[in-house]
Amino acid sequence: MEIRMATPADQYEVCRLWTMLLSFYNKQAVPEVLQRSFRFAMEHPQKVLIFIILIEGMVAGTASLHLGHYSTWNGNWYGHLEDVMISPQYRGRGLAYNLLGHIIEVARQKDLARVELTALNDNYEAHRLYEKLGFTTNSVVYELPLK
Ligand SMILES: CC(C)(COP(=O)(O)OP(=O)(O)OC[C@H]1O[C@@H](n2cnc3c(N)ncnc32)[C@H](O)[C@@H]1OP(=O)(O)O)[C@@H](O)C(=O)NCCC(=O)NCCS
Repeated sequence: MEIRMATPADQYEVCRLWTMLLSFYNKQAVPEVLQRSFRFAMEHPQKVLIFIILIEGMVAGTASLHLGHYSTWNGNWYGHLEDVMISPQYRGRGLAYNLLGHIIEVARQKDLARVELTALNDNYEAHRLYEKLGFTTNSVVYELPLK
C-alpha cells in the first residue's frame, strides 16, 4: 500500500475515480470539467491537494484536502476533505481509513486547526468511516444553489 500526492501523470486515474464518485451521487460527469479541476489542483497546491492510494502500483482510491478556509472568530485556518472514493474492488480493506488518516496528518503538519467534510444523511458507511477517524457532528449543512 502506498499513499502519495497525485502528479499530472495521475490525471486519468483520478478522473476515473471522480467519475465513479459522481455516478454514486447519480450525477453526470463531464470529462472536460473533471480534467480542468484536476489541472487546477496541480497548478494550485496552496488551494487543493489531491491524494491517491495505490495497491501493487494500481490507483485504488483518492481524496482531496481543500485549503484556505479561515475562522474569523479565532484566527484559525482549517481544511475541507473532499472527493473521498475507493474503487469498489478495493473496499473493506482499510484503504479509506489509512488514506484519510494520512491526510489528517498532513493537515496537522500544515497547522490547520480542524478538518471539515460533508456526507449525505444516508451514507452510513461513510459516517462510520469518519466517526472511526474521530470526526463528530452537531451541525446541519444548508445549501442554496445559485446556478
Ligand atoms: C465509504 C468508502 C470511502 C469506504 O472505503 P473503504 O476503503 O471500504 O473503507 P475502510 O475499509 O477503510 O473502512 C473503514 C471504516 O469505515 C466504515 N465502513 C466502511 N465500509 C463500510 C460498510 N460497507 N459498512 C459499514 N461500515 C463501513 C467502518 O467503520 C470501517 O471500519 P471497520 O471495518 O473497522 O468497521 C467507500 O465505500 C466508497 O468509496 N464509497 C463510495 C463513495 C463515498 O461514499 N464516499 C464518501 C462520500 S462522503
